[in-house]
Amino acid sequence: MKRFTYAIAACAFMIGCTGTVVSPETVSIIPEPSSVEMTEGAFRLTEKTQANFLYEAPELEYVASALEDITEAVFGQGVKMNLSSLDASHGINFILDENIPSEGYKLEVAAETIDIASSTAAGAFYALQTLRQLMTAEAFTAGDVKAVEIPAVRIEDAPLLGYRGTMLDVGRYFFPVEDVKCVLDIMAMHKMNTFHWHLTDDQGWRIEIDKYPKLTEVGSMRKRTIIGKDPNGEYDENTPFDNVPHGGFYTKEQIREVVEYAAERFITVIPEIEFPGHAVAALASYPWLSCTGEQYEVRQSWDIDDRVFCPGKETTFEFMEGVLAEVVEMFPSEYIHIGGDECPTKFWQKCPHCAKRMKEEGLKTYRQLQGYGIDRIEKFLEAHGRHMIGWDEILEAGVTPNSIVMSWRGTEGGIKAAKQGNRAIMAPSTYCYLDYYQSEDRENEPLAWGGHLPLEKVYSFNPFEGLSESEKDYILGVQGNLWTEYIPEIKQAQYMLLPRLAALCEVAWTSDRGGYDDFIERLPALEALYDAAGYQHRAR
Ligand code: ACM
Ligand code: ZN
Repeated sequence: MKRFTYAIAACAFMIGCTGTVVSPETVSIIPEPSSVEMTEGAFRLTEKTQANFLYEAPELEYVASALEDITEAVFGQGVKMNLSSLDASHGINFILDENIPSEGYKLEVAAETIDIASSTAAGAFYALQTLRQLMTAEAFTAGDVKAVEIPAVRIEDAPLLGYRGTMLDVGRYFFPVEDVKCVLDIMAMHKMNTFHWHLTDDQGWRIEIDKYPKLTEVGSMRKRTIIGKDPNGEYDENTPFDNVPHGGFYTKEQIREVVEYAAERFITVIPEIEFPGHAVAALASYPWLSCTGEQYEVRQSWDIDDRVFCPGKETTFEFMEGVLAEVVEMFPSEYIHIGGDECPTKFWQKCPHCAKRMKEEGLKTYRQLQGYGIDRIEKFLEAHGRHMIGWDEILEAGVTPNSIVMSWRGTEGGIKAAKQGNRAIMAPSTYCYLDYYQSEDRENEPLAWGGHLPLEKVYSFNPFEGLSESEKDYILGVQGNLWTEYIPEIKQAQYMLLPRLAALCEVAWTSDRGGYDDFIERLPALEALYDAAGYQHRAR
């Protein structure tokens, strides 16, 4: 820091001086790497630095463009890419090392070279995210930078968990493509690799489906939105509605654009199409999907709605299969999320179609009826080469061994899943719900859904608690969830994500964490990068 100040001061007095030299003196990385060893000297990164790709691999071009993005942000133009050079004596060398775990990397900064070794392009990409932190925020904010003197260091690193997720709910508030890309950029910075896109809910259907155009013509728009807390829970004249129509949806082309943008950042996009609950926007579009066939409006307030898909009618399954056939075309992900949470059975209990289905299938309870519906969806997805993820309610109705359980009502669902041999993703509201308040001082926080999830609590999460060594293998990973009932725009979304996503990414990435105090010491450097990128984040 001192040398940086000195460099600027020196420039100010030198006639003809062009450009600032940024010389970071400390190394501060989140998520914490497996090992960091400082060595002697520094590498001088300039706009003329050469990048040598010493092997060929699919997706290496994404690494090249990530490096270009980083260097352009500093120097205003990309470093010279050399894709075939065998001259590894200077510059940034990308090296293949099959012994490094998938997504892991070795990063060695020396006076003449930066060697980045990995067995996958993803590993090289994560090395660049680390390199960006080694360069520090000053490199991105100083302006007129002529060199960044990156301190010599040897880093070895690999992730603890293969699934490192972030969920964005666009059903409650619609977030345009540019905002979704912003979330993906934030994820990449934190080495998160799975974007769970919650695309349908009571309050909005956000994905274009050719076979069912009314889903977006009707279901993507609500006529008003509750903007505060309802004083008596009655949704009457006292309820604070804004009386402003809200809506939006993604065309198929936009969906593909997002999937590609994510892939360039080594992020898989998993779509969620909610079934059988959280369905009012779909039911408003096609009334025959409900038990009663009534015409509903797209929902304008929050909470759980009794109006759900009718699993008694065969046409409901025709619809879901029609939708999912188009969804699997748009998303290459191994997993498709089908929701399955918070499904009241009030309408099923009065429905002749549901009664008939239960009799024919020998189903004794309404949860079994739900299980029947989920099972049919899963069979369809498996026939299309995909596995189904569902919220932990899917356990109540019984699941096949292929189902993946997303544990949100605590970790119990994930533990139960792992003990019975189902794979699970841990996203308990107690540690992972990033829509919860960040502080108990609610007056000074933006209105939120409720709950209390300070940074330290996120950091304290142990996704393996309560599991034996062999059961741990069933935990694919962890996920932070951003529900958006009270988050109408991207700046607020950033505020809710940051810096809590930094704590969660360390939970997901780092095998042997150094503890919260150590994390907090490293955080300001990352917060400075948030500022450099213009991201809103909660001050501590
Ligand atoms: C959920 O929060 N309803 C999954
Ligand atoms: Zn029914």
